Amino acid sequence: MHDPAALRSIHLKRFQTAPSIFAAPGRVNLIGEHTDYAEGFVMPAAIDFATLAAISPRSDGKVVLYSENFSQEQSYDVSALPLRREGQWTDYPMGVMAILAGEGHRIPAMSLSLWGDVPVASGLSSSAALEVATALAATSLLGVQMPGPVLARLCQRAENEFVGANCGIMDQFISANGARDHALLLDCRDLSYKLAPIPHSIALVIANTMVKHSVAGGEYTTRRAEVEEACAVIARHRPEVRFLRDATVSDLHQWGGEMSSNALKRARHVITENLRTVAAADALMSNNLAQLGRLMAEAHRSYSQDFEASCVEADAMVALAQDLPGLIGARLTGGGFGGCTVNLVEAAHAAEFAEALGARYSAEIGIVPEVHICHASAGAHQVE
Ligand code: GLA
Repeated sequence: MHDPAALRSIHLKRFQTAPSIFAAPGRVNLIGEHTDYAEGFVMPAAIDFATLAAISPRSDGKVVLYSENFSQEQSYDVSALPLRREGQWTDYPMGVMAILAGEGHRIPAMSLSLWGDVPVASGLSSSAALEVATALAATSLLGVQMPGPVLARLCQRAENEFVGANCGIMDQFISANGARDHALLLDCRDLSYKLAPIPHSIALVIANTMVKHSVAGGEYTTRRAEVEEACAVIARHRPEVRFLRDATVSDLHQWGGEMSSNALKRARHVITENLRTVAAADALMSNNLAQLGRLMAEAHRSYSQDFEASCVEADAMVALAQDLPGLIGARLTGGGFGGCTVNLVEAAHAAEFAEALGARYSAEIGIVPEVHICHASAGAHQVE
């Protein structure tokens, strides 16, 4: 669908009031995985899948949410909004309301209709899109203009403190601040960023392994704990190292022996991934696509072997892409353990590439994947 007019008429029919409509995209990460919470670098792009939020005021003191995807309505009294998660889709919008309220905003009575086409549990940040769309809609009703980075931090807090997923800032940041036809190199330490143009001659082919991925799941949390364990060992010797962002490969040579072997491998991934991500942004900005492809291949190897965040299906999807015409680079994207691969492909070959990759994967794994040809799209904005 991705059709604001359809959501407008759904909202009108249900709530008899014309809404304002906002969109927030999902994302694909080109490179820089599990580096955001280590205050490192990431380079995602917003994609053309999004959540739409239609909002209008009410006069009965209620916050009424409607999800077109779930065909479900849920109503709350503004004086009794939930303070903790309820284990359902409403946690994402209500998490945003809770953080806004905690910041001193009076949540107004409202009708909020939500619809999205970001594939769920696929590593494409459907939850960030839902949070950012909600936050943009709610702040507009409040008459508050928040800069994109501030909006992103608010949504990350909703996910961390309300939903209970210990994610970094990448997904919410790119959803709020993405730019059409650009990837975004983000320094997760100070949230400064640079846009790197993705030429029209390159398509983002996103191949879904159909293996479900979840950030709230145990593996993400275990990896994060191992990264922090490695950092603590280095910090014993070099107290200025507060996050792995500050550490070097030579720190690992010196003190890696004091870490568990898992922590050492995880740290090696994060430290080298930060270097690769900055180099990949340079390669993209100077149109050195061969170098970008090599860095993506190394990043996948490191994610799979050192970070052990891949799976048989994702490794197969990456391997099966290698000799297809038009491929520039391929790797598993997002939190890991399933989800999607991102393939940078010469646009002229994209359709043929997508079809061949899907056929190869079905034949080898026995699962029919969804393969999407996407383009880097705009960050969150008002649609109408
Ligand atoms: C998930 C998290 C992000 C980031 C990635 C891994 O998408 O939400 O914060 O940590 O995993 O790079």
